[in-house]
Amino acid sequence: MSLRHFLTTQDYSRAEIDALLEQAAVFKRSPRGQQLAGKSVALLFFNPSMRTRTSFELGAFHLGGHAIVLAPGKDAWPIEFRPGVVMDGEAEEHIAEVARVLSRYVDLIAVRAFPKFQDWSVDREDAVIKAFAQHATVPVINMETITHPCQELAHALALKERFGDLTGRKYVLTWTYHPKPLNTAVANSALLIATKLGMDVTLLCPTPDYVLDERYMAYGEQNARENGGTLTVSHNIEEAYRGADVVYAKSWGALPYFGRWEAEKPIRDAHKHFIVDEAKMALTNNGVFSHCLPLRRNIKATDAVMDSPACIAIDEAENRLHVQKAVMASLIAQR
Ligand code: CP
Repeated sequence: MSLRHFLTTQDYSRAEIDALLEQAAVFKRSPRGQQLAGKSVALLFFNPSMRTRTSFELGAFHLGGHAIVLAPGKDAWPIEFRPGVVMDGEAEEHIAEVARVLSRYVDLIAVRAFPKFQDWSVDREDAVIKAFAQHATVPVINMETITHPCQELAHALALKERFGDLTGRKYVLTWTYHPKPLNTAVANSALLIATKLGMDVTLLCPTPDYVLDERYMAYGEQNARENGGTLTVSHNIEEAYRGADVVYAKSWGALPYFGRWEAEKPIRDAHKHFIVDEAKMALTNNGVFSHCLPLRRNIKATDAVMDSPACIAIDEAENRLHVQKAVMASLIAQR
C-alpha cells in the first residue's frame, strides 16, 4: 500500500474530509485517547508559529504520543533541498538524509515551510514539503506551505458547529490590508475547503492582480462543480458582503508582484478600506466572521468585529487541536 500523506485536502475526497471532521468532533468532546501511544511526531518549523506548534505538541500528548520540535537552520542543521547540487553553501545536510533519518526515529513528520516571496513560479512548486514526502518513509503533514490544510479543517469544523450543513451557504473570502505582503496559503486553502463543502464562494479582492493562483482557482471550480457550489470573483465590497453567511478574511501579496513588492505597495496601501468592520458585517445575513490568526486588530478587522458574537476565530483556533489529532490518528492507523 502506498504511503498516505496529508499535504493538501485536494488529495482527500469529500467523504474523507467529512470523516476527519467527525473524528475531530469526537476528540473535541472526549480529548484524551491512546491513538498515538508509543508513537512520535517530528515538527519541523522553518517559520514561526504559536497555534500550530502548541496544538500539534498538545495533540500528540493528549493521544499518548510524543512531539519533537526542530527549527532547521536554528537549532538543527540547515538543509539542502535541490537534487544533485554541490553542497558548498550554508546547508550541512541534504533532505535525502534528513527525511530518511527522521523516518527511522519518528512515526510522523510535520513541516512548516513558507514560500520565499521572491518568485512565485518557484514557490508554487512547494519544493520543501514535496522533498520531505519524496524521501520520508513515514507520513508527512503540511503545517503550512503554500496551503494550510490543518487550518482548513479547523475552519470547516467551526463553520459546521455554527451552521450544520454548509451546502449553499454564501461564503466570502475577502482580501484585507496588511502592511506586508503575506503568504497566499490560507487564502488558497479557504477556497479549497469552502468549495469542497458546497458553499457559494465569492473571492473578494482589490484588483485582478490579487486573484489567487490558477491552480487553486481551478481546484475551487472543480470542487464547486462536484459539490453543488459556485466560485466567483468580485472587486465590489458591497455586492460581495450583501447576504453573506460567512466572511473569512486574509491578506496576501499579489502574485504578479512577487519579488518586486515595492511596486505592489501603493496598490495595497490604496485598499486599506477592505478592513472588516461593523458596517460591512451589517450587510451580511447575520453572518459569522473568522480569520486564521494571528491578526492585526484595526488593520485587518476592527476591535468591534473581533469582539462581536459573530467572530468565531477563537473557536477555529481551538479546533486546530481537535482536527490535527484526527489527522495524526488517521495517518498512524493506516500504517
Ligand atoms: N493560524 C496559524 O497557523 O497560526 P500560527 O502561525 O501561530 O501557527
